[in-house]
Amino acid sequence: MSEIVLSGIRATGKLHFGNLMGAVQHFVRFQGRGDTCLFFVADLHTLTTLQDPDDMRRNLREIVKDYLAAGLDPQQSILYAQSSVPEIPELSLLLSMLQPLGDLLRIPTFKEKVRGQDESATLGLVTYPVLMAADILGPKATLVPVGEDQVPNVELARRLAHIFNARFGETFVIPSMMDEMVKVPGLDGAKMGKSDGNAIDINAPISEISTLYKKRGVTDPKKVRAGDPGNPYRTVDIAKGVDEGCRSVYAVHELITPGEKEGREIADECRAGTIGCADCKERLVGSIAAILGPFQEKRAALANQDDYVIDVLHEGGKRARVLIAPTVEAVREKMGVIIY
Ligand code: TRP
Ligand code: SF4
Repeated sequence: MSEIVLSGIRATGKLHFGNLMGAVQHFVRFQGRGDTCLFFVADLHTLTTLQDPDDMRRNLREIVKDYLAAGLDPQQSILYAQSSVPEIPELSLLLSMLQPLGDLLRIPTFKEKVRGQDESATLGLVTYPVLMAADILGPKATLVPVGEDQVPNVELARRLAHIFNARFGETFVIPSMMDEMVKVPGLDGAKMGKSDGNAIDINAPISEISTLYKKRGVTDPKKVRAGDPGNPYRTVDIAKGVDEGCRSVYAVHELITPGEKEGREIADECRAGTIGCADCKERLVGSIAAILGPFQEKRAALANQDDYVIDVLHEGGKRARVLIAPTVEAVREKMGVIIY
């Protein structure tokens, strides 16, 4: 059965290499399988943390350019801005009437960001997951690929769909989650993140990326000289205070260097001491260049194509509305709300 795949991204900044390999490449694969694909920029969600309107407008377009350069095709996938579909916030409001507050208060992001702080936290932050449920349930998505941090939000959407269906009759599809999205380690070995300063900018010149790995890539500290044997795998045991092995180089090799996952050649060379960390990093940068070279070429061609990007968003918004509006209309009617 073909899926309705949906995923959103906030417009908080540009994409980094972790987003590209961990998420966007998956999206491209779904697109090629003939599924119905909806990929959108969650600009309304972005308002919970970013208020500068110029940043918002710019980030949104830049992300769409990144998506296009990475291979998302506006003919095959529906690419849109969340705010182009006014039925989404409408659905969010309707759903909020069924959303138990207790569930919202137990969402980890809510606990981190709102509880324990002063009372200036906004209502938008509290209802963030309900808006996300509307994103997902509106087009009746069957599969939602997300990072681990978004799992509680998708679970909340699933519960909300159950609550609605039980009360008003089968309406929503219960979405499945795909949370095996690859986690790409950043320069320091922690998950690559926008705000951690450990990210690789996908539009940076390869020479710059090379310098970053040389200076900041974290290798096995026990492998001091090139000929010393090393451990390519990071082993962490917090209880025993153990954190050993290569932190930020080999894990990326395994993800992107052709043949490595199957053959483990570099891993063997590392253990045998027949490769040094400098060479190993150089090879990694080669693998990164093989991916980013073609990407950057397409991306550069889009740099001044804002009109085209706006066109893509306009068309995508129309197509998304065609999918979403009938669901929201049905929900409204089932709840007894009629537009007179
Ligand atoms: N909350 C998600 C994030 O911060 C973005 C998002 C908004 C999303 N709506 C969504 C992701 C719907 C998946 C499905 O990354
Ligand atoms: Fe890491 Fe490569 Fe050095 Fe081994 S040789 S520790 S895998 S950088």
